[in-house]
Amino acid sequence: MAGNITFTMIKPDAVKAGHIGAILAQINKAGFRIVAMKLTKLSPEKAGEFYEVHKERPFYGELVEFMSSGPIVAAVLEKDNAVEDFRTLIGATNPAEAAEGTIRALYATSIGENAVHGADSDENALREASFHFAATEMFK
Ligand code: RTP
Ligand code: MG
Repeated sequence: MAGNITFTMIKPDAVKAGHIGAILAQINKAGFRIVAMKLTKLSPEKAGEFYEVHKERPFYGELVEFMSSGPIVAAVLEKDNAVEDFRTLIGATNPAEAAEGTIRALYATSIGENAVHGADSDENALREASFHFAATEMFK
């Protein structure tokens, strides 16, 4: 499976703004198949654990607070070259630098509140998928 799975979250800002449907439509149109999906909310503890790799960064506290501020959509997606192609689809972390037509260019409002998460490696995609979903909830 490695190589054709990625993990995403539609972040609290985009859920709150009513963009779930538009973002999922764009993801499907780009050729990704939804393998697992749920609307859920992260506790501050869970958000902190998910973003543990950023623990020493100055924005960590703000990131954990934001990611636990409201519901998110967590999903596992399948496509050839999933991790890289999904990062291309979402655009740069800072929406001001995101390419035209990308999800962040369309829906993100700032570098912190940037609408979507995309896993950055095959290894992290699998780790993040099992962080959110049991094996019985993934339909590969
Ligand atoms: P993500 O993990 O959410 O897909 O985002 P990314 O790879 O493009 O960016 P990353 O460096 O992993 O940062 C994770 C998230 O932290 C927030 N952030 N805020 N205020 C800031 O300077 C800053 N920098 C990053 C963003 O929400 C970013 O997506
Ligand atoms: Mg990242």
